[in-house]
Amino acid sequence: MRLEVAVTPPYPVFIEKGSLERLASYVAETAVALISDEHVAALYAGRVQAGLEHSGKWVKLYVVATGEKSKSLDSFGSVLRQMVGDGFDRQGAVLALGGGIVGDLAGFVAASYMRGIAFYQCPTSLLAMVDASVGGKTGINLPEGKNLVGAFWQPRAVIIDPKTLDTLPPQEFRQGAVELYKHGLLADPEILARMEKRDFLKSAAAEVMTELISRSVAVKAKIVAADEREQGQRAFLNLGHSLAHALESYTEHTLSHGDAVAYGLLFAAKLAAQRGFADETKRLLRFLDWLQPAPLNLRSFELLKPYLSRDKKNQAGTQRWVLLESIGRPRLLSDIADDELKNAWQYLLEVTK
Ligand SMILES: NC(=O)c1ccc[n+]([C@@H]2O[C@H](COP(=O)([O-])OP(=O)(O)OC[C@H]3O[C@@H](n4cnc5c(N)ncnc54)[C@H](O)[C@@H]3O)[C@@H](O)[C@H]2O)c1
Ligand SMILES: [Zn+2]
Repeated sequence: MRLEVAVTPPYPVFIEKGSLERLASYVAETAVALISDEHVAALYAGRVQAGLEHSGKWVKLYVVATGEKSKSLDSFGSVLRQMVGDGFDRQGAVLALGGGIVGDLAGFVAASYMRGIAFYQCPTSLLAMVDASVGGKTGINLPEGKNLVGAFWQPRAVIIDPKTLDTLPPQEFRQGAVELYKHGLLADPEILARMEKRDFLKSAAAEVMTELISRSVAVKAKIVAADEREQGQRAFLNLGHSLAHALESYTEHTLSHGDAVAYGLLFAAKLAAQRGFADETKRLLRFLDWLQPAPLNLRSFELLKPYLSRDKKNQAGTQRWVLLESIGRPRLLSDIADDELKNAWQYLLEVTK
């Protein structure tokens, strides 16, 4: 399956079982900096490197530690310096092999090395396949906060091999499933229908996932293409994320992003229902029931409130909320009153007790 992301310049996303073995046919450059994390490298880097070399490419493998700590100035600097040492010039390419962490770091390396070289993404986590690898956002964290440094740098191609999901731990699969579900809510009820089948997890074989990933990429690609630099529509992708970011900050990231977004989606559904929009709270409750997110160890709305007002998407002091008028019809609202938030929070506490 081949999709196109219509940014400038446009690039293809390939979703094909076994594409990992054929990476060389997607990469035009001869010199390749292959960037991966310890975990993914142990599983797949050998095969990928051998495949590329077999086709006559010159490959250097850079392995960073697994986890968010690798989205740092240290790892960024270290990879760049090794690339200089190994003699990469402007004609080389960076290939990211791994989850969203590797993708964000490698993308920023590609955007920065000699003012920018070719970049390819081979996402291996569900989150990276359905979300992080599409849209051109790359970057790293600072000790002061997440994603504070980065660049928009579009890949030449994204190559997704759904077969790699076989080795993804179930907990990581669930994290990606939340963003997949979010894309369904935003624009594609067929995604919801398929994910709401009871045997979704058991049947989440490569065939099922190829279809779901394609639909999800199509949703994100369409929104991103309409708003490449995040000035309007792209804000819709933040459905469920305003509350999620507040929960993550409040819990100092002990609550995972996916779990926080799942709570955020239910919260947004309640806010929407209170406004007289379609009431999708029951559907979200069923989704949470499947997801089994970690418990919310936070009771007081007053404690959470300061974190809500720090949201990056706020403009000129007003909080902006993405709510669904109905499935597939997101709206951006900036007139949500404190009482509405408080009521929805109370509801969230009650149903997740
Ligand atoms: N650029 C964007 O638009 C964007 C969007 C969303 C998230 N992100 C970023 O993505 C990051 C999170 O990404 P993530 O959830 O993929 O985390 P991750 O990269 O840490 O991957 C999750 C875990 O799964 C492992 N893994 C990945 N693929 C595997 C496979 N096929 N088999 C076995 N194990 C595998 C990894 O080693 C890691 O332990 C965050 O830093 C977030 O900020 C970026
Ligand atoms: Zn998210």
